[in-house]
Amino acid sequence: MNHARLPLTSSRPTQPLSGSIRVPGDKSISHRALMFAGLAVGETGIAGLLEGEDVLRTAAAMRALGAEMVQDTPGAWRVSGRGIGGLREPADVLDMGNSGTAARLLCGILASHDLFAVMTGDASLRRRPMRRVTDPLQACGARFHGREGGRLPLAIQGARDALPIEYRLPVASAQVKSALLLAGLNAPGWTRIEEPEPTRDHSERMLRHFGAEVLVERAGNGRIASVKGQPELRAADVVVPGDPSSAAFPLVAALIVPGSVVTVQGVGLNPLRIGLFAALREMGARLDVANERLEGGEPVGDVTATYSGLRGTDVPPERAPSMIDEYPVLAVAAACATGSTRMRGLAELRVKESDRLSATAAMLAVNGARVEIEGDDLVVHGGKSPPAGGGRVETHMDHRIAMSALVLGLAASAPVGVDDAAFIDTSFPGFAALMRGLGATMA
Ligand code: S3P
Repeated sequence: MNHARLPLTSSRPTQPLSGSIRVPGDKSISHRALMFAGLAVGETGIAGLLEGEDVLRTAAAMRALGAEMVQDTPGAWRVSGRGIGGLREPADVLDMGNSGTAARLLCGILASHDLFAVMTGDASLRRRPMRRVTDPLQACGARFHGREGGRLPLAIQGARDALPIEYRLPVASAQVKSALLLAGLNAPGWTRIEEPEPTRDHSERMLRHFGAEVLVERAGNGRIASVKGQPELRAADVVVPGDPSSAAFPLVAALIVPGSVVTVQGVGLNPLRIGLFAALREMGARLDVANERLEGGEPVGDVTATYSGLRGTDVPPERAPSMIDEYPVLAVAAACATGSTRMRGLAELRVKESDRLSATAAMLAVNGARVEIEGDDLVVHGGKSPPAGGGRVETHMDHRIAMSALVLGLAASAPVGVDDAAFIDTSFPGFAALMRGLGATMA
């Protein structure tokens, strides 16, 4: 993204936060809805699509591959798919911007189409590891040529007659699992992917929704997800729930600003996404869920956070996949809690939009919180009152670092600034306005 820097500062509001809001659609589900609909036969209607930069990159790439995608009204899209194996060679480079999910899932789609494509991204994405998808995807017959370490830009020659893949993931990654399942869609027979711990299963749920045969079995602490290749995916309307990873910011803000009560309606409550709520409850947070329901195969509910005196906790490593994007904002809650919080097993945070482990620690340290990185653990020491604040946080092109820092500023004694809030648009367009509507001070 070529952009002008957008500094932003938040400070303690004079009143508690209050209100009932909706957050934008789930990012993971939005990418998948566009991709699967683009591979289906017929017209899919999508409601509640996240129109953040990341998802718009997926829409542009799928268009370049021949699928038709039109926006009717904000969040309401119609997609006419090309059918499995029906994508055409893109005429130009595919630019995936800041989005690891878009880049990696698309590698899976391209791997089993007989076409040539070149993929790039912004400076953050060009630093991120791609071999975790391209190495196992070679087993279907695709070839990838990237920069040192296999990084973007990447040239891709998809397989002419793709083979099914059997693979055990070395790290728990829903992106890698999904890329391999997507490749398997255009190969005969069963593609079987084993993961060491269960990761978000939006792909499995949505593939079934579009008519594919998907099996999920337990295997040790993890799972095996299998898809039968060459199904006829049939267009099927999708309702995208509110993103729990976005809801995390106003909810944590309510927990740390005295007197606040905030409800986020229609939040996705997929059990593999809500580890943050478990951790916050262990810290003494009051989080109430109402109106639980199923929408398009995904559980959804309204979540209310009420200001709570938080205390430190110990977050086990096996919880990481279910809250991998929420550690920066959990660290903010921990800095406002009494006692220490240890978040274990965060190696994967080093390869997110930024090195999120270092960026989270630096965000807190520059605002006067005591924080340590010990191996792959993040340890945050709370005090009698929230951190002093007054720091200027470097966001490193990372939307979640920016939003976490701005949440911290609502509780810290002195204002907290971020060097660049522009990347917030990748996942949460309208974040600052929505927060101001709850009574937050951000300028
Ligand atoms: C995502 C999976 C996670 C997450 C990312 C979205 C997905 O990444 O961090 O924001 O949509 O599958 P990994 O699977 O690489 O951990």
